[in-house]
Amino acid sequence: MMKTIQLKTSIPGPKSQALMKEREKHVAPAGHAAPVFVVRSEGSMLEDVDGNHLLDFAAGIGVMNLGHAQPSIQEAAKEQLKNATHLQWNVTPYEGYVKLAAKLNQITPGKFPKKTFLANSGAEVVENAIKIARQVTHRQAIICFDQAFHGRTYMALTLTTKNKPYRYGFAPYNPEVYRAPFPYPYRGMDADTAFARFEEIVNTQVIPTNVAAVIIEPVTGEGGFLPASKEFMQKLQAFCKTHGILLIADEIQSGFGRTGTLFACEQYGIEPDMLTLAKGMGGGMPISALVAKAEIMDQVMPGSIGGTYGGNPVACAQALAVIDLFENGPALANAKKLGQMIEERMKQWREKYRCVGDVRGMGPMRAFELVKDQASKTPDPDGTKKLIQFCYEKGLVMLSAGTYANVIRLLMPLTTTADQLDEGMSIIEEGLKKL
Ligand SMILES: Cc1ncc(COP(=O)(O)O)c(C=O)c1O
Repeated sequence: MMKTIQLKTSIPGPKSQALMKEREKHVAPAGHAAPVFVVRSEGSMLEDVDGNHLLDFAAGIGVMNLGHAQPSIQEAAKEQLKNATHLQWNVTPYEGYVKLAAKLNQITPGKFPKKTFLANSGAEVVENAIKIARQVTHRQAIICFDQAFHGRTYMALTLTTKNKPYRYGFAPYNPEVYRAPFPYPYRGMDADTAFARFEEIVNTQVIPTNVAAVIIEPVTGEGGFLPASKEFMQKLQAFCKTHGILLIADEIQSGFGRTGTLFACEQYGIEPDMLTLAKGMGGGMPISALVAKAEIMDQVMPGSIGGTYGGNPVACAQALAVIDLFENGPALANAKKLGQMIEERMKQWREKYRCVGDVRGMGPMRAFELVKDQASKTPDPDGTKKLIQFCYEKGLVMLSAGTYANVIRLLMPLTTTADQLDEGMSIIEEGLKKL
């Protein structure tokens, strides 16, 4: 059982270094938050090729919410593999797809009939949400927000804000996409001003009757874990209702317990017309869902949405096991407790460490922003890199985020124990002292 960090070599060890040389020869360029090659995982721990045990505060970018190698999730996949690996939904249907759709329709916010479409990735359901919104409303304009990240395919990328590294060199993007400010009180954009700007943009630049959908992450993911205020989300929903605009909540990162409830929308009192889900839903299998009001889904022209692998039977089996664990296990209670422990621990950081500018989040979806000094709030992306490197060398895997690359986000499995949390937070605090 791997429970704590154990380093047998300095990080990265010799075997990881040798594999990295091979990787550079054969694989497309990309960064790695923690360039060690992992052979095994369990709970919140990773074991690399050199036998080092690392503590994982990244969870595969918020995917392994119920921990690595969760036995009941693995069993569900094994059982399904014995029977069928791939069938293709439009060729011969299978029960797992229907069961998962029914379950998602039941557990997602909104007391109205719903229907679900399954795909492979977050970006793919974002694409489909926009396609459906346009097909059904016969309108074209889409409103998205600053700090947004919705994926890397062309429409998802058009909706994404940050240029480097996501959008760089990929222009032109899709037309009829407009961007409004997202509430970011620490950097001067309060929720009231953001909503006033949103209204102004829609009313003056676009005209509400041209708007098919508004897409928003209730808590931004790659944008740096900024929670929109409850009032902002509710005003947005009311505006959309008034003007027949579809509200799409992107909970690809904030969903499946990440904010302490199954979905962040529950805490906002929001019932979106469409909800995009992925990451934590599949317990590590590539699967995503677009859950929509039945009256919307029923208008989609059959055959106009789909894909070869969407709703793969093994991925469906894993997703059902994930939902079962959320419904019948302690995952959400753990997530809430974890959130409280993290909040308590980070409360003093601004006073204790001059490099910490802002501390924020919702439940265990928490982050802190590093600045050169607290008065000027100048972002410190170099300090952020240094802190991540410091933690990595001590055996703690962490991720950055944010438009200015100066946010460190905590994305550990929600099953992380109090001892593991303490171990990880102590390393971060040691690193903060050195910045
Ligand atoms: C909020 C949000 N939407 C969409 C995506 C895109 O998901 P994928 O990488 O599975 O395409 C992400 C991925 O990080 C995300 O965080």
